[in-house]
Amino acid sequence: MTMNQPATAVIEVDGLHKRYGDIHAVRGISFDVKRGEIFGLLGPNGAGKTTTLSCIEGLTPPDSGQITVMGADPTSEPSRAKRELGVQLQSTSLLPELNVKEQVRLFAQLYGADHSPQRLAQLIDRVGLTDKADALPADLSGGQQQRLALAIALVGDPQILILDEPTAGLDPQARNAVWEFAREFRQEGKSVIWTTHYMEEAENLCDRVAIIDHGELLALDRPAALVASLQETARISCICPALSATQGATFPGVLESWEEDGYHHLRTSDVPQTITALHEWAAEHGATVERLGVSHASLEEIFINLTGRRIRE
Ligand SMILES: Nc1ncnc2c1ncn2[C@@H]1O[C@H](COP(=O)(O)OP(=O)(O)OP(=O)(O)O)[C@@H](O)[C@H]1O
Ligand SMILES: [Mg+2]
Repeated sequence: MTMNQPATAVIEVDGLHKRYGDIHAVRGISFDVKRGEIFGLLGPNGAGKTTTLSCIEGLTPPDSGQITVMGADPTSEPSRAKRELGVQLQSTSLLPELNVKEQVRLFAQLYGADHSPQRLAQLIDRVGLTDKADALPADLSGGQQQRLALAIALVGDPQILILDEPTAGLDPQARNAVWEFAREFRQEGKSVIWTTHYMEEAENLCDRVAIIDHGELLALDRPAALVASLQETARISCICPALSATQGATFPGVLESWEEDGYHHLRTSDVPQTITALHEWAAEHGATVERLGVSHASLEEIFINLTGRRIRE
């Protein structure tokens, strides 16, 4: 393959719809995941991320739309599609009475994959659990349980890893270990699709990010390109108790004005004009402006811009 050839799509999702009774969980989502990329699904609770993954995994049949995994339809050709997928189980699916090594062996056997002692040792080492090989799940930390689930996802030597919030609730060190792991996987020319609530993670690790909300795809691009689309705007933050959000919105250049954590924030397309107006207003009203700072758009701002609300709400 030459460098100029476009990367091959390993997953294609086209016009996916899924309803649960009255809830229209996924409303016409389309995207593809390329070979050798880390693809992020970013969105708030209930956005439809898990439902989308579940359709790709062949666990939930779509109402309409087309999905292929390495060319196979996960619903009508489940064995072909599943051969290529490694799915990280929730840690609650671990069997409490089996130790790490037995756990990995069992899944390798179920999968019909290599379960020789060497292969098991290699999988366990890959996720950094060698010194915990004989421990039961109850004796593992949350991060170690997540890594055990990763080892299990790897038993079939998949081309694609599907991870649903693999770093939720992990401390920074454990998150870092998962990030490193995903990067190594990508290095081998394989693909990762994962969901996250963490903007920072989407921004730093994903090659491309799909932002979804209420079952719809709002944006899809490289994180830097998404951020660049808002680059002309910046955020001014200050402490000014006398200033209301409504008043802030009247300053020239201001696109959005809100209060959070004791700070007043103004998203603006014209930093100097907005700051001048803010100071003039403060002088006129005898108000104090403290801790004034200016920052540029982050993925979080893109999200707010697209959805009009904060992701953690
Ligand atoms: N099995 C189900 N039966 C009924 N409704 C469901 C089912 N699974 C999901 N839903 C609903 O579909 C919508 C999308 O849920 P989904 O789990 O895909 O969201 P999510 O983006 O993964 O959210 P979270 O970030 O909380 O994991 C929600 O409104 C949810 O309540
Ligand atoms: Mg979910």
